[in-house]
Amino acid sequence: MVSLSLRFCSLLALVPLAAVGSVIPRADAYDYIVVGGGSAGSIIASRLSENSSVSVLVIEGGPSHEGEVDLTIPYVYPRTFRSRFDWNYTTVPQPNLGNRPGIYLRGHVLGGSSSINGMTLNRAPASDWDKIASYTGDSSFRWDAILPYIKKNEGFNRPPNTPEYANTYDPAVHGFNADKIGNTLVTDGNWISQPALQAATEVGINYVRDVNGGLPVGISWQQFSTKDGSRSSAATAYLSAGILSSRTNLKVLLNAFVTRLLPVSGTDLKFTTVEYKDASGNTVTVSARREVILSAGVMSTPIILMRSGLGPRAHLQANNITTILDVPAVGQNLQDRCGAAAVWSVNATDTDDDIDRNPAVFNRWLNQWNQNHTGRLTQMSYRQMIFGRVPNNASIFSGGFQDPSSGPTCPHYELYPANKWTSPTTPQPATGNFVSMNIFVSASNVRGTVTLDPTNPLTGNPVIDPKYLSSEWDRYVMRDAVRTSVRYFNAPAWKKWNATPVFDTAILNSDAALDAWISSSAFGGVHGVGTARMGPANSPAGQDVVAPNFKVKGVSGLRIADTSVFPFVINGHTMGATYAIAEKVSDLIKSGN
Ligand SMILES: Cc1cc2nc3c(=O)[nH]c(=O)nc-3n(C[C@H](O)[C@H](O)[C@H](O)COP(=O)(O)OP(=O)(O)OC[C@H]3O[C@@H](n4cnc5c(N)ncnc54)[C@H](O)[C@@H]3O)c2cc1C
Ligand SMILES: *[C@@H]1O[C@H](CO)[C@@H](O)[C@H](O)[C@H]1NC(C)=O
Ligand SMILES: *[C@@H]1O[C@H](CO)[C@@H](O)[C@H](O)[C@H]1NC(C)=O
Ligand SMILES: *[C@@H]1O[C@H](CO)[C@@H](O)[C@H](O)[C@H]1NC(C)=O
Ligand SMILES: *[C@@H]1O[C@H](CO)[C@@H](O)[C@H](O)[C@H]1NC(C)=O
Ligand SMILES: *[C@@H]1O[C@H](CO)[C@@H](O)[C@H](O)[C@H]1NC(C)=O
Ligand SMILES: *[C@@H]1O[C@H](CO)[C@@H](O)[C@H](O)[C@H]1NC(C)=O
Repeated sequence: MVSLSLRFCSLLALVPLAAVGSVIPRADAYDYIVVGGGSAGSIIASRLSENSSVSVLVIEGGPSHEGEVDLTIPYVYPRTFRSRFDWNYTTVPQPNLGNRPGIYLRGHVLGGSSSINGMTLNRAPASDWDKIASYTGDSSFRWDAILPYIKKNEGFNRPPNTPEYANTYDPAVHGFNADKIGNTLVTDGNWISQPALQAATEVGINYVRDVNGGLPVGISWQQFSTKDGSRSSAATAYLSAGILSSRTNLKVLLNAFVTRLLPVSGTDLKFTTVEYKDASGNTVTVSARREVILSAGVMSTPIILMRSGLGPRAHLQANNITTILDVPAVGQNLQDRCGAAAVWSVNATDTDDDIDRNPAVFNRWLNQWNQNHTGRLTQMSYRQMIFGRVPNNASIFSGGFQDPSSGPTCPHYELYPANKWTSPTTPQPATGNFVSMNIFVSASNVRGTVTLDPTNPLTGNPVIDPKYLSSEWDRYVMRDAVRTSVRYFNAPAWKKWNATPVFDTAILNSDAALDAWISSSAFGGVHGVGTARMGPANSPAGQDVVAPNFKVKGVSGLRIADTSVFPFVINGHTMGATYAIAEKVSDLIKSGN
């Protein structure tokens, strides 16, 4: 295990007591209450409290991120899975994943999933934002209107000023606000970058200068939310110990589990009261003078709405919850990006495999990280990423099938090569060096659900059914992505490393065999959206959950801002897009909209 370094002990001492749950809020004491101090919630609370005349309370279910080494060293993030920093959700058994239930990771800590995630920083392709704008009828979601919010959120770290990295990013699409979310390329000169880039050229994958320029299809350098060798999260950047101790108008309540929102008595449907269980299990209510902003994430936000009587009537009735407003869309339209990993052995010796299986190697890198925050633990095992599309002449399109992606510059799938064994469904061998292709179906047209646990509707975990790979389209894309991966690792660039698949390539001979391999290898995703989706300002409450100003339709005093509002799958990793909407909603609230 990683041991606490002295550096962290001193950080612990900096946490102001008021921020760690010692404050019992008095009713009506806050202008705004943010439910969930996660990726979106941390930003919103921080932005609103920039005005010292405005008081803000954050109610977060998990503990603080401060001083936690597993939330600081980038490489070790998988240690947080199934720890006290994870909500420990599971999906229902997935028929297209061999009937296996999947783990559904979600951060249970200040910073939310941004405190435990893989740090790949994407913003979604431009056409995804343009599609949201056209679906909602609100042009302020267009790519060119969102870009300023993206830049506002970002502290881009330029790679070394050497010819090798000259064309690996486009400064015009980045923000350089050093106190915000760090964004860093891995530039360690590791062996894998050369074949990873050359193989793409050899199989006809075009080079993209900047994955975050809006046109990601092709191969590009990955960008990661790290800064000075450590993780950079919504909590480290927006709710740092320094910010918490300097703002008396901002309180963060930790280890407080929000059960539901209550309508203000005597009003029609004004939802400004929050009910939660404090760390000792007492039920407490607290009210906002102005608004509640629900930012509990794609799984918890719909569950809190349902417990509050805002959801599909029949489902609430089945759980003995009185319906206050019938909102059929709550918990529906869950879209996610199903993943799988395929592995090749290589005769390169400088892979990350030994870091994972040999404590002596790990400890050597840990010592270096402790010394000056450099070395292999400052990064993950990825350096480049590929966004791809199934070809226009693919058989799936022949019967008049409509491409569900947001347009011809939107990816259908994502691939990223890793410098080690990454398959979670087959154990890493005790010896050998490997590279893996991590594969995600991006432009999914499957829609799943999140519902209440009928055995414990009031405090139970959400019942999550993403329905992975349940459409012919999603299965087609996954097959195409696996076949592209094999073609890629067959390219001449990998020959000098003797890249050899560790799976039987006979799976490629038939769709049935490939489906069987996918069914046993796929492991679900972490990029859920849509369970409280946004729609046009004038769509009926119930068809969509929030309006383009993030206000919940049909009630007052309540907004939702987190990944649950995206009306469609994001064709990239979701953190960056979530940050953008958090900046946007903060601006709307501050300007009185
Ligand atoms: C393991 C993992 C790896 C990932 N890798 C990447 C990646 O590399 N790149 C990327 O872009 N995206 C990645 N993602 C996805 C991305 O992190 C999320 O989509 C995004 O952070 C979600 O932001 P959010 O604000 O909607 O929710 P969250 O950040 O999850 O925030 C929700 C917050 O609400 C709190 N909360 C929930 N319920 C309650 C309750 N009842 N009471 C009180 N508090 C509550 C939670 O504790 C949490 O702090 C990953 C996610 C995970 C989990
Ligand atoms: C700060 O908030 C107060 C109270 O809501 C408001 O009157 C004032 O205009 C705000 N200041 C700015 C700069 O927005
Ligand atoms: C998740 O499970 C782990 C392992 O059982 C446990 O230690 C942790 O407390 C759980 N997380 C939560 C939020 O309960
Ligand atoms: C709902 O209430 C009925 C009658 O009290 C009870 O039998 C049933 O178990 C309850 N259902 C749930 C989901 O709590
Ligand atoms: C960091 O420390 C390592 C030794 O652990 C050393 O090799 C390296 O040069 C140092 N790097 C910097 C930037 O100080
Ligand atoms: C699609 O076009 C490519 C390139 O033109 C060709 O090689 C391939 O055979 C075509 N596929 C189908 C299914 O027609
Ligand atoms: C790796 O394998 C290739 C192909 O077999 C071979 O040419 C190369 O010499 C090998 N390299 C090492 C370091 O063994």
